[in-house]
Amino acid sequence: MCKAVTTTTSASSMWTCCAVRCRWGGTSGICVAPPPMLASLVPALRAWVSDPRDIHLEAFGPASVPADPSTRSAPPPVAWEVRLARTGRTLVWDGRDANLLDFAERNGVPLESGCRVGSCGACQTRLMSGGVRYPDPPQHTIPAGCCLPCIGTPASALLLDA
Ligand code: FES
Repeated sequence: MCKAVTTTTSASSMWTCCAVRCRWGGTSGICVAPPPMLASLVPALRAWVSDPRDIHLEAFGPASVPADPSTRSAPPPVAWEVRLARTGRTLVWDGRDANLLDFAERNGVPLESGCRVGSCGACQTRLMSGGVRYPDPPQHTIPAGCCLPCIGTPASALLLDA
């Protein structure tokens, strides 16, 4: 069984990094990599460990980590109206996207983002009305009245400050 721990970031660039610690003879390793490398590394790590929950990732800045499809919740059976106050857009969530960030981007609404796994807080958006659900507890503490679009999905009709 492996246990992945901790992260760090470079002062000169915003890379994602992760560390993996294994129980076998104290073997451990750390990987610091840009998003393209992590796009192949993270799925390989998830396939390698016996329990995907043993991998802990954090990401900073523009880096992104591919979401673990096994942690995605099933799409809701109903459609929700998602209104974006600043852009004046009204969209319909149909469960096709893994999260609200993917949903916004697919609809041509770029939102600020970083890790895309709920740890950095870069995508934090004010939730003006409605509810957002998360498949797992976010690593980033979400202030009251806000949500994390990168890992959240609508639990009701939404009005976002976006
Ligand atoms: S992009 Fe990092 S928490 Fe959403």
